[in-house]
Amino acid sequence: MAPGDHAYRKETNMISKRLLQVFLVVLASTVAGAGFCDECIECHKDPAFKVQHPKLFDYFVDFDLSVHGVAGLSCSDCHGGNPKTRDLTQAHDNVLAPVKYDKIPDTCGQCHAEQREAFVTSEHYRVLEKDGTAPNCSTCHGTMEVDFIFVTRVKSTCLFCHNQESDLFPEVPGQADYVLNKINIIKGYRSFVNTHAKDRKLVAELDAAYDDLTIKWHCFDLANVETETKELLGAYRKAKGQAMKDRKK
Ligand code: HEC
Ligand code: HEC
Ligand code: HEC
Ligand code: HEC
Ligand code: HEC
Repeated sequence: MAPGDHAYRKETNMISKRLLQVFLVVLASTVAGAGFCDECIECHKDPAFKVQHPKLFDYFVDFDLSVHGVAGLSCSDCHGGNPKTRDLTQAHDNVLAPVKYDKIPDTCGQCHAEQREAFVTSEHYRVLEKDGTAPNCSTCHGTMEVDFIFVTRVKSTCLFCHNQESDLFPEVPGQADYVLNKINIIKGYRSFVNTHAKDRKLVAELDAAYDDLTIKWHCFDLANVETETKELLGAYRKAKGQAMKDRKK
């Protein structure tokens, strides 16, 4: 095989890739050795699980790609356990307790306190506490693959329980879809207003009302949220009109 030969180049490329991988592994272990290393992630990310324990590996991948994986959370932020040991038994001390169905609002509420506060006032929470047939945070947002709920998904999320067959407020999915669509339109206006409006006091007021609305959503008092959404949409429309005039000046 001669230099310049296609196969030769491919082979040296592969070798340098391998070297780079080894280098990165060494680098990673030095960096990790220097400070605190999260053993939950270190162990659970092991690619060997792909073969030995594919379901477990899927859980890791779902987490890794989720808003939480990207934000740098650890498994222990929700599951507890001991993230400082490599010993399986010690690490796993009671890891399923914090994610028991009715405990989930408290687990998520450690960081999303406002959503939890709104949620505990809801009919959902009352029924969840009573007999566990109402949704908790993970029913709607997922467990490992936690994400925003997009307009396209909200209807099917609610339909799961609120449908003609169950006869449990079957109008809810349509209403939720309607409200979330309006919130989505607000999001569009909002990014324009936040960039271009001259009246920064108004921008701050609208921002606060918007945050309030997305939290209140979790009271699941849809009629109330619908009214507030419509009002806020009107206010943003006005602000956008003004911001467009400001731009032309
Ligand atoms: C040394 C490797 C290792 C470490 C460290 C580790 N895990 Fe695990 N984990 C596993 C394996 C392997 C399983 C599969 C089930 C088993 O063998 O217990 C598992 C299973 C789990 C499960 C499912 C348990 C069940 O009973 O279904 C959870 C939840 C979990 N780990 C969370 C954690 C958390 C949180 C941490 C850190 C505090 C952690 N793991 C640290 C290897 C590890
Ligand atoms: C945002 C919170 C959160 C984070 C972070 C998180 N989990 Fe979970 N995990 C949950 C919830 C909620 C469940 C659902 C429990 C259920 O269905 O009863 C769960 C379930 C699991 C299960 C299945 C347990 C079973 O027996 O059904 C495994 C395995 C698991 N998690 C492992 C992990 C690992 C490994 C990490 C880190 C890579 C992690 N989790 C990070 C919230 C989280
Ligand atoms: C240890 C703190 C922590 C815990 C516990 C936690 N989260 Fe989060 N969550 C975060 C962080 C940090 C973000 C990313 C926020 C950002 O990027 O602005 C986030 C983002 C989110 C988002 C996307 C919305 C947003 O503002 O980015 C949702 C939805 C969410 N979390 C739901 C949950 C649910 C459901 C649980 C419980 C299963 C949970 N979280 C547990 C810290 C946490
Ligand atoms: C019945 C379904 C459902 C339940 C239960 C639920 N949520 Fe939500 N959540 C949603 C929907 C739909 C949205 C999107 C609303 C929006 O865009 O304002 C949302 C939005 C969010 C957001 C993002 C807010 C933002 O910035 O737009 C977070 C964080 C969140 N939920 C956390 C939680 C937590 C924590 C719990 C449990 C205490 C919970 N949710 C329970 C449906 C649910
Ligand atoms: C896991 C099943 C389940 C899911 C999923 C679910 N709900 Fe519910 N919902 C319930 C139960 C159970 C009740 C309580 C009914 C009662 O009061 O007896 C309820 C009640 C409600 C109520 C209160 C009605 C009233 O006037 O008191 C609203 C509003 C509501 N849900 C909205 C939603 C929305 C919006 C979604 C989707 C984002 C959703 N629900 C998803 C089970 C569910």
